Amino acid sequence: MNSVTVRVPAKVNLQLAVGPLRDDGYHDLVNVFHAVSIFDEVTATAETGMSVRVEGESADQVPGDRDNLAIKAALALAGHAGRSYGVHLFIRKSIPVAGGMAGGSADAAAALVACNELWGLGLPLEDLMEIAADLGSDVPFALLGGTAVGTGRGERLTPLDVAGTFHWVFALADGGLSTATVYAECDRLRQATGERVAWPQAAEPLLAALREGNAEILGTELRNDLQPAAVMLRGSLARTLDAGREHGALGSLVSGSGPTCAFLARSEAHAGELAASLKDAGVARDVITAHGPVPGPVIV
Ligand code: C5P
Repeated sequence: MNSVTVRVPAKVNLQLAVGPLRDDGYHDLVNVFHAVSIFDEVTATAETGMSVRVEGESADQVPGDRDNLAIKAALALAGHAGRSYGVHLFIRKSIPVAGGMAGGSADAAAALVACNELWGLGLPLEDLMEIAADLGSDVPFALLGGTAVGTGRGERLTPLDVAGTFHWVFALADGGLSTATVYAECDRLRQATGERVAWPQAAEPLLAALREGNAEILGTELRNDLQPAAVMLRGSLARTLDAGREHGALGSLVSGSGPTCAFLARSEAHAGELAASLKDAGVARDVITAHGPVPGPVIV
């Protein structure tokens, strides 16, 4: 086998409860991840050495070579196998870059799956999960897909039962936001307001809405503790979120550390209408529709 292509979805966080800052610089979370139908494709081709090429959505903003998380994933996998394998990774991006939809984590997860196959390693998912957790807090979920609760820094996952399909609209912003900067702003705001930081807990009504496939309730339960920080850093997001509510979204929130905003619709048709209204309102660089949950990385 000379080449393996893996398709991998983006995620949105349905609840992101951020606990106190830990000594290691991370925060304990309750992070309800939900994989949605916006996909990157990673093709791994046998080669001596490690290299990467990126095409598509904001490809020029993705780091090349060893700073690229997908290359880091391939190196970590080769290290785990104790061999100096080579690979060329070709990444076709549709997931917004630095958009709070775990695009880099998705590419890393796809690289792990593609190289595991290309190099004939046959490692089980549990082994890939361990390597993934060292690469980044969101990479284990990117290997899993579907809908899951992440605890710890988000890497300890429990899959959730979800009935049916939810329909989403995503408003893409110009430029990205650094995850570390948004967490630091969250800490700064909490300190400035003297907010007591509670231990993060999964919201039962949200989990019930997912189990029952109840979009109305899910819409009212969407919550992201990073949202005030993302809006503080990117003031224009307040208008984007307002526009979603004005145009009949069941709920709206900043996705992860932003700046992408997510809006829940009643149906596929409603998502199309909402997307058209948000495009007309001129509150985003681009507006796309998607559905979730979708499965994790798939070899195509
Ligand atoms: O794990 P990852 O490299 O994706 O995290 C990026 C940054 O996000 C971390 O350096 C940290 O500043 C912040 N973070 C955090 N708490 C988490 C996850 C990420 O503070 N649970």
